[in-house]
This record gives sequence, C-alpha cells and structure tokens, in this order.
Amino acid sequence: MSTAVERAAPAAAPRATLPGLFGPLNPPFAGYQGRRVWVIGASYGIGAAIARELISRGAKVALSARKRDLLDELAATSTHALVAPLDVTDHASLQKAAEQIGQHWGGVDLVLIVAGTHTEMRAQDFNLAAARKLLEVNLHGVLNCVDVAMPLMRRAGPGAGIAIVSSVAGYVGLPRSLIYGASKAALINFTESLYGDLRPEGYGVYLVSPGFVDTPLTQKNEFKMPALLPAAEAARITLDEIAAGCFESHYPKRFTLGLKLLRILPHRFQLWAVRKITGQ
Ligand SMILES: NC(=O)c1ccc[n+]([C@@H]2O[C@H](COP(=O)([O-])OP(=O)(O)OC[C@H]3O[C@@H](n4cnc5c(N)ncnc54)[C@H](OP(=O)(O)O)[C@@H]3O)[C@@H](O)[C@H]2O)c1
Repeated sequence: MSTAVERAAPAAAPRATLPGLFGPLNPPFAGYQGRRVWVIGASYGIGAAIARELISRGAKVALSARKRDLLDELAATSTHALVAPLDVTDHASLQKAAEQIGQHWGGVDLVLIVAGTHTEMRAQDFNLAAARKLLEVNLHGVLNCVDVAMPLMRRAGPGAGIAIVSSVAGYVGLPRSLIYGASKAALINFTESLYGDLRPEGYGVYLVSPGFVDTPLTQKNEFKMPALLPAAEAARITLDEIAAGCFESHYPKRFTLGLKLLRILPHRFQLWAVRKITGQ
C-alpha cells in the first residue's frame, strides 16, 4: 500500500477555481504531445487502441497488463514507451510498476484505468466464486490501480488526472449482466465521488462509459450488438473528450443517450422498457 506520507494532500494546497454550471468540468488537456500517460489494460482491446492513438498523438506512454509480449510489440512502435507488466489483482505488481514509472518520469499526467473483464451471469446460473472473481478484477483491481496512481498524479501536480473505464452496463440493471453491471455501477459512483474530492485540488477525474466496442471481450457475445464501434474509434472519442475536459466520455451517443434516458425513468417504466427492448 502507498504510505500515509504519499497519500496526504499538501496541507496548504490552494483550492483550484471550480468549474461553474456550464463549461468543461475538468481541466482541459492541452493536447497529448509529450504528455506522460499510463494505460493500464493496454495489451489488447480498447486499452491497446487508446495506447496506439496516444502514440500517434506524440504522448509518452507506459503500457501495463499481464501479457508482456503484446505490450512489448506495442512499445516497439514508439520511442517513448515504457512497458510495466502487472496484474491489477496483485497490489505488489502495481506498486512495482508505479515505482518503475516514477523513476523514469517523476509524475504521470494521465492514468487511464481500462483493465476489466466480463462474465455473463443471470440469477438462474448464479455462481458466487465467478462473481467474486469478476469483482476482484473490475472493482478491487481498479481500487488497487487508483491507490498507486494517485501519488504519481500528485507528483505531476494540478492539471494531471485519472480516467476510469466503466460501462453503460452500469447505468441500469440489464439481463445477463448480474455482476458485470454491478461492478460498473460501483465504478460510476466511485468516480463521481473521486471527482468531488480531487477536482477542488485541481486534478482531473474522468469517467469513460463505452457502449458496445469490437474487442476480444465482445467477440464472445452471441447476440447482435447494437451500434457496435471499432476500438480505434472508441479510442479517438475517449481521448478527444478527455482533452475537451468532459467528466464523462460516453459513446456512441446514438446508443448511450437512450440508455441515459432509461436511467432517469421511474422504475415502473424503466424495468418495463428494459424488458421490452432486450426481449428478456
Ligand atoms: N468492449 C466493450 O464493448 C466494452 C463496453 C463497455 C465497457 N468496456 C470496458 O472497457 C474495458 C476494456 O474492455 P475491452 O473490451 O477492451 O476488453 P478486452 O478486449 O478483454 O481487454 C481487456 C484488457 O484488460 C487487461 N486485463 C484484464 N484483466 C487484467 C488483470 N487482472 N490485470 C491487468 N490487466 C488485465 C487485458 O490484458 P491482459 O489479459 O494482458 O492482462 C486487456 O488489456 C473493460 O473495463 C470493459 O469492461 C468494454
């Protein structure tokens, strides 16, 4: 765990000017050129696409996940890439990676926590061991990441930030999403609270809520996925919306806006609409 000294916010830290009701909720990121960005979950899928896009935009990237060979391949496409393998469920491996990155760069301007997994589950096939395993990666794994990322973000100073990838599956309870949806709903709430704590200190906190994106994770799905996006497009939107200072990057809008509407409906209508739309 990081030490109390590392965790402590500077006692006399000036409070940043808080955003008003309109305008960007986060400090805008003035381009990625030369910025130090740590992508956790970068070996394939959305994280790898984000890392590729960051490299093409001139960022320095630190690439983390378990599959080192894939990280090495990606790192070979940049002269400014670090490879820091880790397992998000293993706090010691995260701490080692954070130390390595800290030694190379000092601080980190943006940490993107993308790592996650998916297991379909319904009440009828409820499996406690599988549920706990999923939460260990999708929820506890993210907390492990935040624990080691915050000191690096603080070392970079105000204007730096943390982005957490959740999912639209966290907006409302969906069929086959018994535990995955719960893990992502927890991340949404966690990220909102994190924003409330860190934004007054001048740090950025970003929530990323993808709809369906074409990756190894969704290639297992046997149903037709509405508004499926290529991973490269998801990466571009994520980075553009973070750069614009949005709190939440969600996409594609033609899909996510409908789900947002569903989220605010009274339960009587919401639960009926979910049944109708999903046919389950
Ligand atoms: N694809 C979608 O439609 C979609 C929609 C909404 C939200 N999301 C979310 O977006 C994120 C990425 O999804 P994806 O579709 O790109 O998934 P993916 O194709 O399965 O990629 C998952 C990434 O996470 C890493 N990872 C998984 N477990 C890990 C662990 N224990 N420690 C370290 N890294 C780990 C994987 O690397 P290693 O195997 O090398 O460790 C890989 O880089 C996830 O959080 C997912 O829930 C995806």
